[in-house]
Amino acid sequence: MDKKEAEVGALQNVEGKQEEEEQVVNPWEVSAKEGGKIDYDKLIEKFGCQRLNQSLIDRVEHLTSRRAHVFLRRGVFFAHRDFTEILDAYERGEKFYLYTGRGPSSEALHLGHLVPFMFTQYLQEVFKVPLVIQLTDDEKCLWKNLTVEESRRLARENAKDIIACGFDIRRTFIFSDFDYVGGAFYRNMIEVSKRVTCNQIVGIFGFVGEDHIGKYSFPPVQAAPSFPSSFPHLFSGKDNLRCLIPCAIDQDPYFRMTRDVAPRIGYHKPALIESLFFPALQGETGKMSASDPNSAIYVTDSEKEIKNKINKYAFSGGQDSVEKHRQLGANLEVDIPVKYLSFFLEDDAELGHVKEEYGAGRMLTGEVKQRLIEVLTKLVERHRRARAAVTDEMVDAFMAVRPLPNMFN
Ligand code: TRP
Repeated sequence: MDKKEAEVGALQNVEGKQEEEEQVVNPWEVSAKEGGKIDYDKLIEKFGCQRLNQSLIDRVEHLTSRRAHVFLRRGVFFAHRDFTEILDAYERGEKFYLYTGRGPSSEALHLGHLVPFMFTQYLQEVFKVPLVIQLTDDEKCLWKNLTVEESRRLARENAKDIIACGFDIRRTFIFSDFDYVGGAFYRNMIEVSKRVTCNQIVGIFGFVGEDHIGKYSFPPVQAAPSFPSSFPHLFSGKDNLRCLIPCAIDQDPYFRMTRDVAPRIGYHKPALIESLFFPALQGETGKMSASDPNSAIYVTDSEKEIKNKINKYAFSGGQDSVEKHRQLGANLEVDIPVKYLSFFLEDDAELGHVKEEYGAGRMLTGEVKQRLIEVLTKLVERHRRARAAVTDEMVDAFMAVRPLPNMFN
């Protein structure tokens, strides 16, 4: 099957409930098969993306002259579409732009929300490329029980957390759909809309007849930023510019649709680099949920709350009694403290040490949790300080529709 066929084939798979009560992964729901973990190999196969292998990571290191980000080294970003093409073009001296986004559904972000932004910040820094960040306040207004005004307010609040991740204002444009959609952006939405049928949308997203039409009309809004002409103040005359989208893999359906349409309206298909979900404290059956406060660590949690949540809720792969633990060691496969450390403990040697000692039963769950509490408290504290320094004027500056003359330098 050639690539084009593969993409169209994937378009016709129903992403909603599967025939055999399989795991469900779509932009609105992530749940593993009864009692199991998310099967990422299966996802790659079903979605039709590629695994991000070591040789690509080596290439990134070589091209950027920097050690790869811990999310690359640890396989947090594990899948891609056409990332090789982005690197090939970059090697030839062609730049690209980054596109990512957030649906502002809650006031406080949790650690899982930070993952794509921390990674995007790294990509921007090492490749020195422009970035557009879409705040889909419209999406959350359509899907959640939020008023237009509340969604807009949350978008601005979330923008502060995003800015706190360290983006470079000379290369970053943040926009809210409610404010920015129109003009060239809207024209691209319509170009997309007229090339996607209702059957395709139902196939990709699993919408049903009872769903309101807002849902059916939203996907082109998330597709449009993949095309440089949606941003005339940034990319005028650069219709050939490639786009790279860092995101969690649940966003893949949107971009499968986008990639199918892109060549038909004269653009490169956007490339993707996709992450695992950040697991809930209770274990790896889904992603951290903003609606269950005990399933997640928030960037607003105090040191005491972090400590309590980890000690009380973080699912342990350790054994029931100390004797048994010393004898059998921890099951690292299901252990949440080790999982979290593999996202956020930067020191490879220390992580290796913890895994070895804990896995052999020489280290106890309590010790591993203690280390995790330290690591996360530090991270959350740093974020809190950075966010407190973000003023309303800074939000306005990031969100101003303006040219970015130095974005490629
Ligand atoms: N739909 C995403 C969410 O609910 C927000 C989003 C918009 C996004 N554009 C994106 C995420 C591009 C990743 C990449 O969070």
